[in-house]
Amino acid sequence: MTLKWMAAAFVLLAGVTTSQADDYPTRSVTVIVPFAAGGPADISGRIVADIFSRHLGQSFVVENVGGAGGTVGSLRAARARADGYTLISGHMGTHAAAPMFYPNLGYDPEKDFEPVGVIAVQPELLAVRKDFPANNLKEFAAYAKAHEKTLNMGHAGVGSVSYLGCLLLNSAIGIHPTLVPFTGTAPVMNAILAGNVDYDCDPILGPLPHIRAGTVKALAIAAKKRSPLLPDVPTSYEQGMPEFDCAPFYAVFAPKGTPKAVIDRLAAALNKGLDEPAVKKRLNDLGAVIPEPDERGPKALAALVHKEIARLKPIVAAARAKQ
Ligand code: MLT
Repeated sequence: MTLKWMAAAFVLLAGVTTSQADDYPTRSVTVIVPFAAGGPADISGRIVADIFSRHLGQSFVVENVGGAGGTVGSLRAARARADGYTLISGHMGTHAAAPMFYPNLGYDPEKDFEPVGVIAVQPELLAVRKDFPANNLKEFAAYAKAHEKTLNMGHAGVGSVSYLGCLLLNSAIGIHPTLVPFTGTAPVMNAILAGNVDYDCDPILGPLPHIRAGTVKALAIAAKKRSPLLPDVPTSYEQGMPEFDCAPFYAVFAPKGTPKAVIDRLAAALNKGLDEPAVKKRLNDLGAVIPEPDERGPKALAALVHKEIARLKPIVAAARAKQ
């Protein structure tokens, strides 16, 4: 009798879960952006929230939960109910590099999330205040070495991609500037514009409008190829500093255990949205590179996270050893 009841309860529960997934979403969904508003994570997260809202017929509302290099928001997402009503727009920092900086992080990017899909890749720039007395990496290194005691660098918290990019830069040059943490690179950019911070390493989407306006200078792009949006900014490779190579992925995750049917719906919506000409243009105009369809979905994202963790481990360890 007990077994019968258990079996009946199981069938009932399975039915509820399936029908919940079929109807999904029936109410608004929270998309956690683990950094301040106005920065690269926020802008790409809002583009994705808009894609989901339009394709799935409910509001997807961005909630900015900054702190500790994006790990506060990521932990909240990892611990949220796995029902599809809480998602996170994370990146190479929160979902690959962070465990290398925090031994007791409280979440495992590979075990505690269901990957939904990659949004875009954004190469980083070395962005300096307008009147910074250097115009390329060589001049930057010379000035930074000579003025190390007064030099300050902004970043979005230990483990964020701005922290990581500048860790690679600083260790390649051999400098130890004063590190000034913020909750995202949008506030770092404001501090650079105000002249209070000397530089940061920022995914292109953040500093691009300021570089175009001439209020911030870009000394290098941390990639093998120049960006068509900033063709005059030479790569770190061209300037003899290949160690400064940082092009973070931005991606959507759900808490572990979110029903597969829900993940599939989200992934299909994201995939369709990224192929829309208006979305493509918007992301491309911001400097973000959308991956090909076979490099976007849950499987591709799981493989990317795994690959990036393996790739970054020795790089981060070597850079930290020099700090
Ligand atoms: C942001 O959106 O503020 C950046 O992506 C944060 C970071 O540096 O990781």
